[in-house]
Amino acid sequence: MTDTGVQDNTSNSLRAGPRGYVLLEDTTVRKKMIHFDRERVPERVVHALGHGAYGTFRSYGDWSNLTSACWLKNGTTSEAFTRFSVVVASTGGSESGRDTHGFATKIYSQCGNQDLVGNHLSSFFIQDGADFPDLIHSVKYEANKGFPTGGTAHPTAYDFFTQHPEGAFQLMNVLSDLGIPRDVRHISGNGVHTFRFVNDKGESQLFKWYWLPVLGHRALVYDEATKIAGKNNNFQRVDLYNSIDAGIYPEWELAVQLFPDDGTYMWKGIDLLQAPQIIPFEMNQPVKLGKLTLNRNPTNFFAEPESISFAPSNVVKGVSFVPDPLLQWRLMSYDDTSTHRHGSPNGYLLPINKAIAPISNNYRDGYMQPLIFEGDSTSAPNSIGGIQEASSQQSLPYTGSQGETAGIGNIGRYVPSYDWAAQARNFWGTLDKYAQQHAVDAYRFELGNVGDDTVVKKYIANILNKIDNCLARRVAYGIGAELPAVGSGPMTNLTNSTAPYPSLYPLTQGLESNKSNEGLVVGIVASDNILSTADLSAMSSLLSAQKVRYEVVAPRQGPLASGVSAKQSYITTSSIL
Ligand code: HEM
Repeated sequence: MTDTGVQDNTSNSLRAGPRGYVLLEDTTVRKKMIHFDRERVPERVVHALGHGAYGTFRSYGDWSNLTSACWLKNGTTSEAFTRFSVVVASTGGSESGRDTHGFATKIYSQCGNQDLVGNHLSSFFIQDGADFPDLIHSVKYEANKGFPTGGTAHPTAYDFFTQHPEGAFQLMNVLSDLGIPRDVRHISGNGVHTFRFVNDKGESQLFKWYWLPVLGHRALVYDEATKIAGKNNNFQRVDLYNSIDAGIYPEWELAVQLFPDDGTYMWKGIDLLQAPQIIPFEMNQPVKLGKLTLNRNPTNFFAEPESISFAPSNVVKGVSFVPDPLLQWRLMSYDDTSTHRHGSPNGYLLPINKAIAPISNNYRDGYMQPLIFEGDSTSAPNSIGGIQEASSQQSLPYTGSQGETAGIGNIGRYVPSYDWAAQARNFWGTLDKYAQQHAVDAYRFELGNVGDDTVVKKYIANILNKIDNCLARRVAYGIGAELPAVGSGPMTNLTNSTAPYPSLYPLTQGLESNKSNEGLVVGIVASDNILSTADLSAMSSLLSAQKVRYEVVAPRQGPLASGVSAKQSYITTSSIL
């Protein structure tokens, strides 16, 4: 059948005889082929490999003292969609590779769509958006060689990392076990930037936002991650899909750290306009505002997780921005790239992007315009009726804070910095000796594969040795690089028990009291004469009580002599899948 509604079977070509030429007159198969030839839209320039699910966001209370945002009003529940992604790999790559994971949520609220576009780690590699294209070029495959396609263990990446020490903490996070989460149900979301809340009285406060996983955090060990990447490169989307399918819904609490909006954008000596600089929870305890529950799988991968367009610029009244130079570039880049990706400025009218709030604006025509506008008026304001533009009282509060000092000074290109080495040192000191060894191994893997001695030497001397002399020497020793002299860099005196900010590494044993087994999958080993149906049913009820799923694994799939049926064999699965 064609898009014009004509019934025609298009499974066999129209031919001049059973073995003859295919005829041009076969218009319906031609339409089918023309459509197929244009099926792919460009993948996202970053975060191309992703997947997602629908859910709801429920506000815990009435936060109108903080913000006019209607999705944070008392008891309000809004529909939501979250897309998880990885930055470096392209579509078809592995989701379990070491990377920063994207955590982007669209809240379809009565006052418009609110996007929260964050990552699973708290900091970032750069502080100025002008460097973003360079960052991405450096971590993607090398332009001349076409490899590696999904990792940073190569010279252009480490050359970039050496030039941008502000990202040392973020890279150390990626190289710790936090960089290889088990799945997306056990990761945080981090807004990274500072944003501004404005309430109905025009009062404002600054905030940083976080999604805190109700299930706690879980990571793979590197050996598992590499095996999973080979055996099931979709492990993360399968885990989310199957959990939701089994009625096990992952949840996250939205929490915000709050800061006075006094015009300085500083808090306790920390520059709130520098995205790489984090504020540990021990210094500023986040307030929990509501809960996100993902409870419905998409029904069409292209139309939903692929076609969704997120943008940090999509905010509702009550949420606005600060002059952080990373955020400021993000505010233009996402709308721009979405227009390119969808081939049209009408991408926000696609079903997955469409606001539930009424739309009446002066956007007209363009490729694939689905709306049929009526009437004469195509400008606003107008006196002949038609478009209902928002009144001047309904403007979003983009304006800065009272007594703003951030925009004061000569116009120029500035390079602000913070004590990046101390921040990374705090993280290093928070890791226990096993976690430290995992990170050392990850540095050894990456730097050991870079293959350019000058780049490696500079990274060790200019970055690692400024963080911790022992770390730098351990990494250098493992890869046969020149060892920095003993005492040539600072030594971390923190031990895990005295580290001031344990929240920097939630994977530390015993830190999370809320860790639960929900949604994990247990393999129950069976054979013709091991495991009876009664044993299986006893195990099944114990596991279901904890919302743990299971699969029976045996030397071969199918019914066994014991009466139990095996879903998996030793060939089709393994202990980590
Ligand atoms: C100036 C710096 C940045 C620029 C210019 C930038 C640009 C982009 C672009 C062009 C995309 C592809 C979007 C699409 O095709 O729909 C993207 C995706 C994404 N970015 Fe950024 N980005 C920046 C920094 C960041 C930061 C700091 C974060 C995290 C806080 C972040 C999180 C994400 C996420 C989660 C996605 C995937 C969204 C989705 O699932 O569709 N980006 N970014």
